Amino acid sequence: MNEAAILTSPNSPLTLHILPIPKPSAYELLIKVYLIGINAIEAKIAKRGTPPPPSYPFIPGSSYTGTIEAIGTHVTKYQVGDRILVSKRFGTQGNEYGAYQRYVLVAAGEKMVVRLPEGMNKDEEAALAALVMNATCVPGLFSGRLGLRKPGDEVQEGEEREKILIYGGSSSFGRLAVQYLQCAGYDVTTTSSPRCMVTVCELIGSEGNVIDHTLPLERIIAELRVRGPYDVVVDMISTAQTIPLASRVLEAQGGGKLSTTQPAFGPEDLPEGVERVFEPWSDSLYEEGNEGLMEWVVGTYLPFGMEKGWMSAQEVEMVKGLESVDGVLGRMAEGYGGGKRFVVELGR
Ligand SMILES: NC(=O)c1ccc[n+]([C@@H]2O[C@H](COP(=O)([O-])OP(=O)(O)OC[C@H]3O[C@@H](n4cnc5c(N)ncnc54)[C@H](OP(=O)(O)O)[C@@H]3O)[C@@H](O)[C@H]2O)c1
Repeated sequence: MNEAAILTSPNSPLTLHILPIPKPSAYELLIKVYLIGINAIEAKIAKRGTPPPPSYPFIPGSSYTGTIEAIGTHVTKYQVGDRILVSKRFGTQGNEYGAYQRYVLVAAGEKMVVRLPEGMNKDEEAALAALVMNATCVPGLFSGRLGLRKPGDEVQEGEEREKILIYGGSSSFGRLAVQYLQCAGYDVTTTSSPRCMVTVCELIGSEGNVIDHTLPLERIIAELRVRGPYDVVVDMISTAQTIPLASRVLEAQGGGKLSTTQPAFGPEDLPEGVERVFEPWSDSLYEEGNEGLMEWVVGTYLPFGMEKGWMSAQEVEMVKGLESVDGVLGRMAEGYGGGKRFVVELGR
């Protein structure tokens, strides 16, 4: 028996429904889901309707761990019983691929399928399920799209340490980005609330480069400007409040590209010379030329990144059962998360 948490219409809560167990086609996998990591985008789709789902009824969910229950006739890489972590490719359509259900299919051609290391315990597995979406976007943005080094890459002797501004270093995506870039040898400046300051300073390895984002606007801009100019500027929050701030830092250094994490939700008045760019940042990993990077993400960064000190677990609140999902999405949409990640446990 399969059970799913389904969004049946706009503005309705997710409700539980019994569905048939889907059958994998030749190149697909059938997974019995164990842990589901809840992502910010899912709260926006379910509770605000922006962005809207492709259609209703809709089964959300992209990040999960579980055990392979069945494999398609042409699958050779995996075996029934393997424990895996999956981050569904952005844009994959079809409710059979949505993670908020007991039995889910992994689409043919999905590359973000990570074999969990032997002996990984539940807390470590939950930490990975919680951050895997953001953790695939970090190498996608910085190495796949911007061509920057990844942790472990050699820094050439005498090579100048490029300066990078990560606005929003206390968000989940921001923390992972700061740590990735720090480990790759870049000179990173970022922001945090006072509440998360100690953690973010630890990740960046310096107190001087973390600015309190609750300071008055002009002061934040001045503090960020004085630490620049930056070779790369990213706004991890990308709201109507933060885009003008990050744009002004760029404008002050003559303009350039502002990489963002959300599309504009209304008209934006950007300063001359500032170009705002947005995309699902893991997309670059699927492109020709980035096959080696994708292999590193799946085979090294995701399964062993914490062990190597390239990424850190973030605070996780575990909730039980698909019946808990709607409440969690509601809390996230109200901003309750506060940097915390939610993971739903379905039992083995
Ligand atoms: N384009 C992509 O590929 C992609 C991929 C993943 C995520 N995203 C998007 O990226 C955004 C961040 O995701 P996430 O998972 O990192 O979210 P998150 O961890 O839930 O971010 C929440 C944190 O952001 C910080 N924050 C909120 N407003 C802020 C502001 N005005 N200035 C500075 N910091 C602020 C807060 O930190 P404090 O507690 O310190 O105040 C808050 O705890 C979301 O919109 C998500 O949908 C995009």
